[in-house]
Amino acid sequence: MAEYSPFMVFGASGLIGSSIWGKLPQSRRVGTFHKFPKNDLLPIDIQDKHAIRQFIQRVKPSIIWHAAALANVDWCETHRDECWAVNVSGTQNIVLAAKEVGAKLIFFSSDYIFDGKHGPYDEDSLPSPINLYGEAKLEAEQVICRELTDYLIIRVTVVYGKESQNKNFVIRLLQTLQQGKIIQVPIDQVGNPTYVDNLADAALELVCRKQRGIFNVAGSERMTRYAFACLAAQIFGLDSTKIIPVSTDELHQNARRPLNAGMNVEKTQSIITTPLLSPQEGLQRLKLQDHQII
Ligand SMILES: NC(=O)c1ccc[n+]([C@@H]2O[C@H](COP(=O)([O-])OP(=O)(O)OC[C@H]3O[C@@H](n4cnc5c(N)ncnc54)[C@H](OP(=O)(O)O)[C@@H]3O)[C@@H](O)[C@H]2O)c1
Repeated sequence: MAEYSPFMVFGASGLIGSSIWGKLPQSRRVGTFHKFPKNDLLPIDIQDKHAIRQFIQRVKPSIIWHAAALANVDWCETHRDECWAVNVSGTQNIVLAAKEVGAKLIFFSSDYIFDGKHGPYDEDSLPSPINLYGEAKLEAEQVICRELTDYLIIRVTVVYGKESQNKNFVIRLLQTLQQGKIIQVPIDQVGNPTYVDNLADAALELVCRKQRGIFNVAGSERMTRYAFACLAAQIFGLDSTKIIPVSTDELHQNARRPLNAGMNVEKTQSIITTPLLSPQEGLQRLKLQDHQII
């Protein structure tokens, strides 16, 4: 990727952004945080159109990774204006500034743009979101497609791995089991668990191969959240009997969930040589790469 310089990462303090950030050359990367400061990252609020424009004009990146979002689906459901301001208007601010400097944009979207009736979804399946987060992600995708020609929309799902706030499903699950507590996990939500380090490698390869357009980047196999939780417990040597299978309805979450979701990754895998990992392979890689994970 030597001809691209510098690289900008919005949301470099988050789960996906920090993994991308860690793989970029130190001397040519500029990254941002919002509420959780991290070494070398600069503070910015993507809702601030003026600040975003100034920042991008100053750095003049050739590639912008946009992993900044309000990603808590239930929070978004009860905070419509904030969800829209960050996930849609914030994206628009980045898109317009990227257009001015001619930067390529890489945006992370979600299988939550679908209703979960007929998964797994292809890149050209018809979106039909059933919650506000999904509506906002879809609207952000549409802004990008309307305004830019050189973009990658990378749709991801059920991402897990090491992160500073330890808020992803696997880390919370492992910590809960380690404390000997029980945890309720839905039996009726299907998706492709995706190890963040594998996602970052695959996304970087798509960029290196100068791809444009929409790509599903996720683990190679779909499974229920419950089956995935039991697998994680087994791999990390924890007590899976503490995992209680429940229906999504029983969890009384604010936002509806697409149940039969997840994505078909054939298109992406036919282009990249990075193997998209199965849940088993991803969890084993996580265990190997990070002994301190729990
Ligand atoms: N994780 C998944 O399973 C998953 C699934 C589907 C799609 N996605 C998408 O992937 C992208 C990254 O998700 P993630 O899991 O890495 O989320 P995350 O861990 O919650 O990280 C979100 C990032 O956005 C930043 N941010 C939040 N509000 C901001 C604002 N107003 N201005 C600037 N930055 C702001 C956060 O900064 P601070 O933390 O410093 O506040 C953080 O760096 C999102 O677009 C999400 O919708 C994720």
